[in-house]
Amino acid sequence: MPVSRRIKEVQEASRSINRFHSQYGKRRSDPAICDFTFGNPHELPLAGLVSALRSHAVPDNESWFAYKTSEIEPQRFLAEHVGRELGLSFEPTDFALTPGAFAAISLVFHLILDPGDEAIFCEPAWPCYEPMLLAANAVPRKVPLVVPTFELDFAAIDAAIGPRTRLLIVNTPHNPTGRIYTGDVLKELSNLLERASRRIGHRIYLLSDEPYRRLRFDARKFDSPAAFYPRTFIAYSYGKVLLSPGQRLGYMAISPLMPREDRRAIQEAIIPAQMSIGWCFPNAVMQYAIPDLETLSIDQGALAHRRDRLVPALRQAGYDPLMPEGTFYLWCKWPEGDPDRHWNALADRNVFVIPGAMMNAPGYFRISLTASDEMVERALPLFMEARRGT
Ligand SMILES: Cc1ncc(COP(=O)(O)O)c(C=O)c1O
Repeated sequence: MPVSRRIKEVQEASRSINRFHSQYGKRRSDPAICDFTFGNPHELPLAGLVSALRSHAVPDNESWFAYKTSEIEPQRFLAEHVGRELGLSFEPTDFALTPGAFAAISLVFHLILDPGDEAIFCEPAWPCYEPMLLAANAVPRKVPLVVPTFELDFAAIDAAIGPRTRLLIVNTPHNPTGRIYTGDVLKELSNLLERASRRIGHRIYLLSDEPYRRLRFDARKFDSPAAFYPRTFIAYSYGKVLLSPGQRLGYMAISPLMPREDRRAIQEAIIPAQMSIGWCFPNAVMQYAIPDLETLSIDQGALAHRRDRLVPALRQAGYDPLMPEGTFYLWCKWPEGDPDRHWNALADRNVFVIPGAMMNAPGYFRISLTASDEMVERALPLFMEARRGT
């Protein structure tokens, strides 16, 4: 068997994503489909993104395209800018630039997890935590969110914490449900982790996966867990706010509230860790572009408009959508009956959504509001028609 046992496990854990991707992959570029699947663009990219990439691709000196770790200028810029956004006093070296949130998450796993250490996350969840934890030789522990509000279940999290627990992953704004956890919720979570750390005799770390942090509806407030629980790492990506996930850029940041000794030890380990997981740094042009990209965003009014077109129409057709507070997703309950039949009824009409089964929530599905307005308008009667046909 040429493939390692570890990657065999990863393959098993990613089976549902891969199966879906191969089915949908055959149709993804067909103009007949209304594509509500992944957070991909269906319109031309932001002009500001294109001009930033163009201008920073022109070399200023001979080392323009030399090997890059995290460049100090973008680190300084982020310490200042993100510090103001989150109300935290970062140092430049709290930031590790990464090719997206994927790499920031992987970096945290490799920085702090030993083989056999357990990491808890709440379901439904982004389906890549599990394979990524397995690839880091760690043990995923899954805890359900409270249905139907999808709040954190403190009692269930507490019960899942044991002697091997090292990390809790929290994703806010939350993919797939669109929920944003309030400051009060995060404060309570922080207290829970402090108590549980004392109980098990070692510190539990928190990973705040917040790539949708700047995508919020109705001017909702965002609080980062990094402002409540000192031993927190942030994972961020520009792929969401710029809707350009193919241009890999993001960062991992250490909460400045982290006790000094831990913070220093982690800062010193970051570059060796990024090197050892495959020179996990963003390319030079993306790093130079950070100050230009920092203030850009896709049209959030357009996302809200699509949400507001879809939610009442879905309700009328007998589906049960949850009003999202953030992200660009709409989480929706299937009507009574077999979810596979419902999914097929939509796909037969060229409407493609992500089945909740991919996130261990078979009674639900996810719509990405990154579909074009034209796709939304075309799909509205088809949701109704599919419902009548099942
Ligand atoms: C919750 C969550 N975390 C991390 C990522 C990874 O983001 P990126 O591909 O921009 O690295 C995603 C992407 O869908 C996500 O939804």
